[in-house]
Amino acid sequence: MDDILQVLQDRRAEARKGGGERRIAAQHSKGKLTARERVDLLLDEGSFEEFDTFKAHRCTDFGMEKDRPAGDGVITGWGTINGRMVYVFSQDFTVFGGSLSETHAEKICKIMDMAMQNGAPVIGINDSGGARIQEGVASLAGYAEVFQRNIMASGVVPQISVIMGPCAGGAVYSPAMTDFIFMVKDSSYMFVTGPDVVKTVTNEQVTAEELGGASTHTRKSSVADGAFENDVEALAEVRRLVDFLPLSNREKPPVRPFFDEPGRVEQSLDTLIPDNANSPYDMKELILKLADEGDFYEIQEDFAKNIITGFVRLEGQTVGVVANQPMVLAGCLDIDSSRKAARFVRFCDCFEIPILTLVDVPGFLPGTSQEYGGVIKHGAKLLFAYGEATVPKVTVITRKAYGGAYDVMASKHLRGDFNYAWPTAEIAVMGAKGATEIIHRADLGDADKIAAHTKDYEDRFANPFVAAERGFIDEVIMPRNTRMRVSRAFASLRNKKLTNPWKKHDNIPL
Ligand code: HXC
Repeated sequence: MDDILQVLQDRRAEARKGGGERRIAAQHSKGKLTARERVDLLLDEGSFEEFDTFKAHRCTDFGMEKDRPAGDGVITGWGTINGRMVYVFSQDFTVFGGSLSETHAEKICKIMDMAMQNGAPVIGINDSGGARIQEGVASLAGYAEVFQRNIMASGVVPQISVIMGPCAGGAVYSPAMTDFIFMVKDSSYMFVTGPDVVKTVTNEQVTAEELGGASTHTRKSSVADGAFENDVEALAEVRRLVDFLPLSNREKPPVRPFFDEPGRVEQSLDTLIPDNANSPYDMKELILKLADEGDFYEIQEDFAKNIITGFVRLEGQTVGVVANQPMVLAGCLDIDSSRKAARFVRFCDCFEIPILTLVDVPGFLPGTSQEYGGVIKHGAKLLFAYGEATVPKVTVITRKAYGGAYDVMASKHLRGDFNYAWPTAEIAVMGAKGATEIIHRADLGDADKIAAHTKDYEDRFANPFVAAERGFIDEVIMPRNTRMRVSRAFASLRNKKLTNPWKKHDNIPL
């Protein structure tokens, strides 16, 4: 009996060695942790339950039958993050470069199926040389099996990808279909075709980092949602994010203990809006002052900074925030900000996370690059996302809400539940100057007349009361009381029931 137990111990010890000391040292020398070290950091201590520790590949080509390491280059299983269940896979670069074989894919698929059945998020740690070259099409099939599960799991359980090494070729499409992608600076990259192929085909000379590093994907392409300094920070931040999310679409987001008075009055908000309507102010200040304990988890912080997206808690409950940022491009909507916010709104809606929208938007960004780039279709994404969302929606207009952008930003007409405005709000078709120049074109040569018309337009329309008189704004509120008003609004909506008409699925303008 003792012998048999010893066999198990030995085989486990062997499996834990992965690709062996030399390759582990190489991994560490690149500033990367091993697959197991990452799982240990991600999950609560001692909570990891491994599956398929001994699963090995079945390939018999290229002498592979002589090298069949236990686990086949990916660690899979489940554990907890602050006591809540998650499924995890972590690719082991020390075993065949973390490449994906048929059996490696089977292991990932197994935990994805279980995650969907049992209602828990899937966190994938990617560090892989791509398709296992020795296995050819069997490996491609394995990827496609994972892809299909990514698609089926979308909107059912949160899916989070952490890129901690190479992720290239078709392999990028699994993370691309997950809800969030995080990358580690300087040690991870993602691209469909690498620098060598790029050089051959387009004659562009570019490094892997420039082509698909964390900075590229968080600032330029928006493929990734966040970039972190190292593995340890990235995993800690994933834990923080999971704390905001429900485990599945069958559950409400978690409610955390809070120590911040929901009725907290913030006098400083009364003077947040500058006297000059064209001066910027930092919308993040408002977000931080509204949030429980000032805790804000920002998504896509470095992309399309004219709109801010992320999670806060109000009375311990998760709320998704979408806010125009007047500090960047005056907070206008454009292609990038519409895409960024639309995806975020849809994430919140599919996981029953209420949405707080803070509005200060002068309109859509004009220009040929926007029109040629399809701002009509991209702007419609955000409009569509807000309009289809059935979660509680609370909107606060702090200053400008002009034109189509007023409609788009969770207006009453898109089924906003509570639409508040500060006294400083200006809700109109356009700014006073532009409006005057159109409706009083005949007076354009007379500066005094134009000034008088502009003043008249401002007095009549640059305020929240015209909209409030029509009931498009439910209440004009004191800025200092915003946290209290918004918290109470969401509290009153906890049992909201709203359903869209039956359809197979919608046809959002992609
Ligand atoms: C099998 C692989 C492998 C792969 C790496 N290895 N990639 N084994 N299949 N795809 C092995 C290496 O042989 C090596 O084994 C070990 O992993 C580490 O690799 P190194 O090259 O020494 O590491 P490094 O210098 O860090 O370079 C990493 C790398 C490089 C850039 C990822 O290994 C590489 O270019 N690999 C091939 C990438 C590739 O072309 N993949 C297929 C793409 S097509 P030893 O025994 O020496 O330690 C694809 C399609 C997916 O992925 C389609 C989905 C639809």
